[in-house]
Amino acid sequence: ARTHRIAVLPGDGIGKETVPEGLRVLDAAARRFGFNLELKHFDWSCETYKETGRMMPEDGLDQLRTSDSVFLGAVGWPGVPDHISLWGLLIPMRRGFDQYISLRPCKLMPGTRTPLAGRTPADIDFIVVRENTEGEYSSSGGRMFPGTPREFVTQDSVFTRVGCDRVMKYAFELAMTRKRRKVTSATKSNGITFTMPYWDERFAEMAAQYPGITTDQFHIDILCAHFVQHPDWFDVVVGSNLFGDILSDLGPAVAGSIGIAPSANINPERAHPSMFEPVHGSAPDIAGKNICNPIGQIWSGAMMLEHLGEAAAAAAILDAIERLLAEGGPRTRDLGGQASTQDVGRALAEAVAQG
Ligand code: NAD
Ligand code: IPM
Ligand code: MN
Repeated sequence: ARTHRIAVLPGDGIGKETVPEGLRVLDAAARRFGFNLELKHFDWSCETYKETGRMMPEDGLDQLRTSDSVFLGAVGWPGVPDHISLWGLLIPMRRGFDQYISLRPCKLMPGTRTPLAGRTPADIDFIVVRENTEGEYSSSGGRMFPGTPREFVTQDSVFTRVGCDRVMKYAFELAMTRKRRKVTSATKSNGITFTMPYWDERFAEMAAQYPGITTDQFHIDILCAHFVQHPDWFDVVVGSNLFGDILSDLGPAVAGSIGIAPSANINPERAHPSMFEPVHGSAPDIAGKNICNPIGQIWSGAMMLEHLGEAAAAAAILDAIERLLAEGGPRTRDLGGQASTQDVGRALAEAVAQG
């Protein structure tokens, strides 16, 4: 049987609760569809940092490199500054494995509620394609004259031609596979006058190569407003690292809950492992209570299987999620229910097992 090697990193907070449910459902899919998952567990987290002064060992990425994919929960916990924890584990993975595409679907699922009045699942079904390795998240800059009145900080935004072109190309190719065949670009070329006009320039050049795709572009401020007032306008939305980050919390919020939102950090060339994680973080406010929603994690698992070539298994998981939500199955508090994290995981694993 086919074997996929998966590195499993629950990380911090609710990651420790969502990842086991993700694995439960993946295991059910593997049994039903006849493949093996060879799991390798890593407990790297903020606790590791407190014990060792590092979020992961010095050769951490090399330890993960032999896996086909990484299945991650969340990173970050009070007591360790976020820029240390995230730049010690999550960001090095995205950059070190050149996972330059972050795919973040935003879908109103039947049986769940959007905070937007009068919207139905037909109105909210778009996907954010986020640039994931450069842009505003650069390591160029720093603090000068610390502690003096002359003190200042800078962090350059880095937009390379290769970096812009490859994420835009991915967005257009993705749009070719979708019904509406539309790509929207997130920009801010009226205010950010070096990088964003360049981004627009690269977008226009790419758009010219895809005459079959409808395009438009909006400044990020009004784009946020349009996500709320006109979610039905959007199909594929491509954005820089920071704009994509913002839009991929806003999108799931208009679609109902950040708790169900999945993401895939992809290296399309498959030169390195890709990484799959929910969009949400470690949620310290609800961690350890067995009440967080595991669906974002489980859906991320479906995206992982899709990437690994197990399309039928991926579709079965998504179908189980859709049926559970549409048919009033167990749901957690963020979706207005009373179920526990494990109740939802068990129900989905059972649904996947039975088909
Ligand atoms: P968060 O996503 O952890 O939580 C925001 C809010 O959403 C909280 O009220 C939380 O309870 C709720 N929420 C999140 N996931 C949920 C789920 N599955 N079910 C139900 N409710 C859920 O964002 P934050 O509070 O800004 O960040 C907390 C920590 O996580 C920080 O350290 C942050 O840096 C980190 N973080 C990590 C990632 C990641 O690992 N990819 C992503 C975002 C934030
Ligand atoms: C996400 C998160 C991360 C990001 C943070 C925790 C560094 O918000 O995955 O969306 O900004 O990419
Ligand atoms: Mn984010």
